[in-house]
Amino acid sequence: DDPGLVDRFARRAVDLRVSLTERCNLRCTYCMPAEGLPVIPSDALMTAEEIDRLVGLAAGTLGVRKVRFTGGEPLLRADLVDIVRRCSAHDVELSITTNAIGLANRAQALADAGLRRVNVSLDTVDPDVFAEVTRRPFLDRVLEGIAAAADAGLGVKVNAVLLRGVNDHLAVDLLAWCLERGHELRFIEQMPLDPGHAWDGATMVTAEETRALLGEHYRLEPDEAPRDGAPAERYRVSTPAGEPLGTVGVIASITESFCADCTRTRLTAEGHVRSCLFSDDEVDLLGPLRAGADDDVLLDTWRQAMWAKPRDHGDDADGIVHPARGMSAIGG
Ligand code: GTP
Ligand code: 5AD
Ligand code: SF4
Repeated sequence: DDPGLVDRFARRAVDLRVSLTERCNLRCTYCMPAEGLPVIPSDALMTAEEIDRLVGLAAGTLGVRKVRFTGGEPLLRADLVDIVRRCSAHDVELSITTNAIGLANRAQALADAGLRRVNVSLDTVDPDVFAEVTRRPFLDRVLEGIAAAADAGLGVKVNAVLLRGVNDHLAVDLLAWCLERGHELRFIEQMPLDPGHAWDGATMVTAEETRALLGEHYRLEPDEAPRDGAPAERYRVSTPAGEPLGTVGVIASITESFCADCTRTRLTAEGHVRSCLFSDDEVDLLGPLRAGADDDVLLDTWRQAMWAKPRDHGDDADGIVHPARGMSAIGG
């Protein structure tokens, strides 16, 4: 049995996140600068064939069980359906993290190609606040995309980042909207991954605060199911009278860090191994692949890159690492 992608702290990466592009059609303030980022020349991005080869090694030899395509916005890849179809030949669960713009046209084709789940980034269902957070007036297209994904039988989760004074007063509305439709909502603590470095640990809306906000309208009880390295802590949601309504997750990346149980590894859109969201030490796999490296060389390079994974992202809101690359460049 292959030991897989283990690190010095005896963690094993079984969830692979593959970024497909750094481009995005939104400009969420906590993620991208208003002007966007310099475009990577398309010949520097992994092709569908190259992604298939690396996912095959990860699934076939290294024991990776789940593959999630991220970005930037993965739907901006014209060949996304082809990528999913190729990768579905490997023994992995396939999902995407997306803003859902354009998903309405492709949800069924993606489901048919073997995609199982979508996680949609949606911070509010108020059109004006949506335009403020994302700097684009596209809420309707996002909502159409979510509806189409559900119709196509894809599992849908919603990710929301609460920003103080912007959308935090609408957290309960967003939860009500998701509960009505049966989509699991997760509130994510904002991380210092904005390229403008405007993040401030002192004003960030914490997981504790989020629970308190929701607790004013709902009853929350911790879910007993084991967490298994998942970033979200899950709660069962019911009315004050005790009528069950669904579940909600809180991802406390900063205040209740889950680094010790991390099961993740990443590939950037340019085919670099990034062992941690917060580590700028990247190891190129695509270069050797294009130079004709055989499987053993690629596997060893990948294993070594993961061995160097840092223990965590710094132990508190002040000591936290601010990586040079923003979230859109790392791939959620
Ligand atoms: P599932 O649980 O399989 O649905 O996926 P997920 O929650 O891992 O994926 P998603 O892309 O929806 O990620 C949700 C959020 O978790 C991200 O937006 C990040 O805020 C956070 N997250 C994901 N990976 C990491 C990580 O490696 N480190 C930290 N600190 N946070 C992460
Ligand atoms: N902090 C926390 N989450 C972020 N995301 C993007 N930038 C940040 C940040 N600075 C989230 C998006 C999306 C996921 C891929 O990452 O909302 O759901
Ligand atoms: Fe695009 Fe996602 Fe970044 Fe928003 S958070 S700008 S949707 S990549």
